[in-house]
Amino acid sequence: MMKSIKLKDKVFEIFIPETEISAIIHSMAKDINEIRVKNPLFIAVLNGSFLFASDIMRKITIPNSEISFIKLSSYSGTSSTGEVNELIGFGEDITGRNIVILEDIIDTGITLEKIIELLKEKNVANIKIATLLFKPKAYTKDINIDFIGKSIENDFVVGYGLDYDEIGRNLPHIYKLKE
Ligand code: IMP
Ligand code: MG
Repeated sequence: MMKSIKLKDKVFEIFIPETEISAIIHSMAKDINEIRVKNPLFIAVLNGSFLFASDIMRKITIPNSEISFIKLSSYSGTSSTGEVNELIGFGEDITGRNIVILEDIIDTGITLEKIIELLKEKNVANIKIATLLFKPKAYTKDINIDFIGKSIENDFVVGYGLDYDEIGRNLPHIYKLKE
C-alpha cells in the first residue's frame, strides 16, 4: 500500500485503508438491514458514492431492495440566490417510496439538504440517510443522519469515490491531504 501519493499539486497520506473501509461497510450494512421496511429504494448520489454503493448493496439483505442513482446538477441561475440545484437521472415515480440515501461524505450538509428538499417534493414516504464519512465539525444542518460509517476531522480526503478535482476516485484506500 502506498503510504503517500501525489495528485496534481498535492500530497496525500494514507488515512483509511481498504480493509478498514470494508469493515465499516460491513457494520453499516448490518445496521441498515435492521430497518423494518419492505422494498426500500436505495438512492446513491453520484459521482462520489459509486464504489460505496456497489460495495454496500452486496451486503443488503432487505427483501425487494431496489437501487437507483441521482446526480445533483448545480448551475448559476438568474435569481439572486445564484445557484440552482436539481436532480438528474430520476426516471421512475418515487411517490410513497421508502428511500435510503447513500452518500460518500457529508461535509456542511448543504448538498444533503438540497437532496432531501427535492425528494420531499416528490412525496416519498420516508427518507433515511447513510453516509460513509461525516465531518461533524463542518456540519451546519440539523437533519439527523441515520447511518454514519466514520466521523472524521475537517480534513480533505480522496479515494474510494472521493475526488480531488475529479481525480483519485479509483483509489482503493482513502487518503487525506498532508499538511
Ligand atoms: P456538503 O454539501 O458541504 O455536505 O459537501 C458535500 C460534497 O462536497 C460531497 O458530496 C463531496 O463531493 C464534496 N466533499 C466534501 N468534503 C470532501 C472531501 O474531503 N473530499 C472530497 N470531496 C469532498
Ligand atoms: Mg459528492
